Amino acid sequence: MRVLSGIQPSGDHLHIGNYFGALRQFVELQQQHEMLLFIADYHSMNSVRDGARRRAATHAVALDYLACGLDPARAMLFRQSDMPEVTELAWLLSTVTPMGLLERAHAYKDKVAQGQSADHGLFAYPVLQAADILLYRSDLVPVGQDQKQHIEMARDIAQRFNHAYGEELLVVPEPYIPEEVAVVPGTDGRKMSKSYGNTIAMFAPAGEIKKAVMGIVTDSTPVDAPKDTAGHLFQIWSLFATGDERDELFVRAERGGLGYGDVKKDLLARLEATFEPMRERRAALEQRRDEVEDALADGARRARAIARPVLDACRDAAGLGAGS
Ligand code: TRP
Repeated sequence: MRVLSGIQPSGDHLHIGNYFGALRQFVELQQQHEMLLFIADYHSMNSVRDGARRRAATHAVALDYLACGLDPARAMLFRQSDMPEVTELAWLLSTVTPMGLLERAHAYKDKVAQGQSADHGLFAYPVLQAADILLYRSDLVPVGQDQKQHIEMARDIAQRFNHAYGEELLVVPEPYIPEEVAVVPGTDGRKMSKSYGNTIAMFAPAGEIKKAVMGIVTDSTPVDAPKDTAGHLFQIWSLFATGDERDELFVRAERGGLGYGDVKKDLLARLEATFEPMRERRAALEQRRDEVEDALADGARRARAIARPVLDACRDAAGLGAGS
């Protein structure tokens, strides 16, 4: 199977919700599938109007993924804008995309409701996203629940294009939204999110991570009393434990005698064991800019070998160019 996903370069620091919600899946998927992962810098133009900031944020995403174990010899990691072909396909697709389809997009409606200006790029965002997916004949698109509608729109657009120009041209992709990808709770129990200020950073210095962990909100149940293991401290802890370890800790917690402070200390040790090696790898990669750029260039080269024939077939079928 060919698996593809895109990540917007936001410039934000990654937190463990990002890791368990996305990065870890990609690192696992690369083992069994042909994996394309691109950094959606064209898409980020809808919200960021500062070229230097975009370039830095794009590079930072590459560092994040490489640090977490994405293997550029296996997965194709590349910058969306290193494949300008995608904008050509987006145009072809836009000619079969009904206005009504785009008008129903939740993401567009939400952003306009939040006061973002209704530029054409924002409106056409799902068409570029469809082109991202269809250009590589992707089978599977792992995304969060919030992107499900965009994948459905890509399916619809692919079918319309195929109907007009040839049923075999584009592969109709499937969304992949794994059930077991938990919504990671933040330190206050709400969904972990930068906008709530309840995150635990992945690559922050040890002191900052410790502060976040010790600040996880708990109730005032005394040490001796039984604990409710459905609470968010236990949920966060469980992300770093095997099933057996979890069962054992939960028995102790429900029996009473296990304090929240002990759980936090153990969580901190587990966080460090998981993320410290990644933090070191990221720091090392930061010093090796050329190596990272080479990996991106190689990813784009391999992705282009897939994309070019797909785009050429679409152009040909649509009667563009001199024809073959
Ligand atoms: N819209 C996606 C997001 O904000 C990013 C994205 C762009 C994407 N193109 C894509 C995701 C193609 C999957 C496939 O998260």
